[in-house]
Amino acid sequence: MDVYDAMQTLNACRYYKPDPVSDALVAKVLNAARWAATGSNNQPVTYVVVRDAAKRRAIHDCYQPIWDTVIKKYASGEIKSGFSSSFLQNVDHFARHFAEIPVHIVVCARWKDLTALDASLDRTVLTPGSSIYPAVQNLMLAARTEGLGTVLTTLLVLAEKDIKKLLNIPDELATAAVITLGWPEKPFPEKLKRKPLSEIAFLDSYGAALPSAGPPS
Ligand SMILES: Cc1cc2nc3c(=O)[nH]c(=O)nc-3n(C[C@H](O)[C@H](O)[C@H](O)COP(=O)(O)O)c2cc1C
Repeated sequence: MDVYDAMQTLNACRYYKPDPVSDALVAKVLNAARWAATGSNNQPVTYVVVRDAAKRRAIHDCYQPIWDTVIKKYASGEIKSGFSSSFLQNVDHFARHFAEIPVHIVVCARWKDLTALDASLDRTVLTPGSSIYPAVQNLMLAARTEGLGTVLTTLLVLAEKDIKKLLNIPDELATAAVITLGWPEKPFPEKLKRKPLSEIAFLDSYGAALPSAGPPS
């Protein structure tokens, strides 16, 4: 599969078959993650592959209450989402079946190696994650190429204490994401819903049209 096709069809896969994923394939997608760039090449990212059913259930038990709180806030209007009911249904299905997804990959990062270059600016800090998520995207693109589905989840960061205890993750590591991995139950989309290039890319001055971006589509 061409890398552009993989990028264009790499969706959040929220329905999985129960079929197992081989050790060789898990190693293959983790190897793809390993090639990602990190600041100063300090490679702060490590992974815990969780296959054990009881541990996946325990991770589910951390995820479910966090998701339930979020969905209640959407339902009450406390958080304005604009999400369609089918989207929320998919995310809810995913949460309720989290334990059944054959592989959970917990992405860890040595937080002392993450530089918050922008910490002094009066806005949300962005740079620490920049040495983590390129690896996550590599992993997910590799999985897509193999026909495997993934979802990058960050909600579980809120349960970091429990996840670290469950998996014996050392103190000096933070949890940055949990990626679910398995064989998709539904076909991949032909194309994702994303903003057109003309809306997000500019030439020489912010807001100025990039002619090669073409018309909005
Ligand atoms: C930083 C980040 C965090 C996310 N966290 C969650 C999550 O905790 N739970 C979840 O179900 N999906 C999560 N997602 C998946 C997004 O909801 C999904 O990528 C987005 O809606 C686009 O979906 P699509 O690729 O299928 O169009 C996350 C995605 C990103 C990039």
